[in-house]
Amino acid sequence: MKKVIALLLVLALVGSVVFAQGAEESSAEKVYKIKLSHSTPEGDQIYKVGERFKELAAEYSNGRIQVDTYPIMQLGGEQENVQDVATGSIETAIVYTGNFKPFAPSVGVLMLPYIFTSNEEAWNGMDSIHDELNERVIAESGTRILGYFDRGFRYLTNSKKPVRTIDDLKGLKIRVSQVDVTIETFRAWGIEPIPMAWDETPTALQQRVVDGQENPYATIDSHKFYETQEYVTEIHYMIWTGPLIINNALYESMPADLQDALDRAGKEAAEYGRQIAQEEEVRSKKLVEEKGMTLLGPPSDEEVWQEKAQSVWPKFYEAVGGKAWVEQALSLMGR
Ligand code: MLT
Repeated sequence: MKKVIALLLVLALVGSVVFAQGAEESSAEKVYKIKLSHSTPEGDQIYKVGERFKELAAEYSNGRIQVDTYPIMQLGGEQENVQDVATGSIETAIVYTGNFKPFAPSVGVLMLPYIFTSNEEAWNGMDSIHDELNERVIAESGTRILGYFDRGFRYLTNSKKPVRTIDDLKGLKIRVSQVDVTIETFRAWGIEPIPMAWDETPTALQQRVVDGQENPYATIDSHKFYETQEYVTEIHYMIWTGPLIINNALYESMPADLQDALDRAGKEAAEYGRQIAQEEEVRSKKLVEEKGMTLLGPPSDEEVWQEKAQSVWPKFYEAVGGKAWVEQALSLMGR
């Protein structure tokens, strides 16, 4: 991973020289065409955030920033998207924090299990660490965060049996994202999860290579997991959070007024994502139930899940940027 990060930094540096040259040649009226990649279909919250960013970027730049959106992983899986944004072959993307973290470890602080117990706490958390986090992310990955939003709690689904207590997890093959924090959390709960790229997950569920996965109701709905999954258990260990990122070299090569336009557009698009997150959750929860899924509510022993997951926080410190960063982030969050 260190080699990958080093390579990304070299590529980001090369990118910055190229973009800087481009900026010198550019007139104040240069039009920037920007690709935005994300993973969801029309109607989904992330899709709507992407479209909102496109509109606002055009409005605030008086048409000098033109965003073309590429939904449903047309430009590759989310981790591939992050690499492409880092090197500049895609300018912007919206990704899940877990798929960003391998390239920008410090965002992992938002993924410490049970760090947020409500959407409001997650919003406050994302806002209060934004500037410090962005500095770290730019140094780690060559990408910059323009806005951060949430999508609701990641709930556990499976096709085999109702999971009502932690012991019911035994024997289930659960796909998780390729993130150390998540993998360790499932280990703390007593099973060995199956880390897998997001773009391979729908097929793996269809072909029963895995029995289950964990994602918000909005994702269960938009990716039609109700067609392969039977049970939903509302564990609250992690809220789906995700940034809208841009290649930092490109951003820095732009005139100040366009940087402001991007900052405003990213922030407001993310705020819009937050606003609609809860109504999307209510709508998709109802829909997946209508489609035949059995909603089990929270596990009866959720305090055991929480205790086990939180007891391994110290193990995660290094993986999320170091203990000093975790302490700084918690203090910025007012903890
Ligand atoms: C994942 O499980 O990899 C993510 O939650 C997918 C996503 O970006 O929605």
